Amino acid sequence: MLIGKTSLREYEIREIESLRERYPVKQALIIDALMIVQKRSGWISDELIKSLADFLDFSVEEIDSVATFYNLIFRKPVGKHKILICSSLCCWLNGSDLISENLKKILGIEFGGTTSDGQFTLIPIQCLGMCDKSPAMMIDEDSFGCLKVNNLTDILESFD
Ligand code: FES
Repeated sequence: MLIGKTSLREYEIREIESLRERYPVKQALIIDALMIVQKRSGWISDELIKSLADFLDFSVEEIDSVATFYNLIFRKPVGKHKILICSSLCCWLNGSDLISENLKKILGIEFGGTTSDGQFTLIPIQCLGMCDKSPAMMIDEDSFGCLKVNNLTDILESFD
């Protein structure tokens, strides 16, 4: 299946198919399939949700309910880099609110927003598993702990 940019591509289908036997319950494949398709442009359009629903033999609503529940699946365009700032207890006790407020100020966006140059999207998230280094955040695949207000700009500037 290779019908324009809104349909699944051959390599996506192959990757999804390669995972099928790993999951005896077919619903369990949905998140991986969404992550595979999301790699294409960083988010998943309505058209891609429909294509995935057809391909996996679910309703659009079933696929979309997983996509909108899981906070690492994006249903609208996001920035080149995704900043995931932890808002759970350890980080909150160690000043994540202050870090978040400063990130918002530096970037000129609110949670869920994307900078006007398309570089960063700021997303609050539950525990990143770095509680011993709280407050913590991830930018794409990189982790940053023991955050201080005065090192945020340097961290952001290290991403082009
Ligand atoms: S509470 Fe923030 S990383 Fe665990």
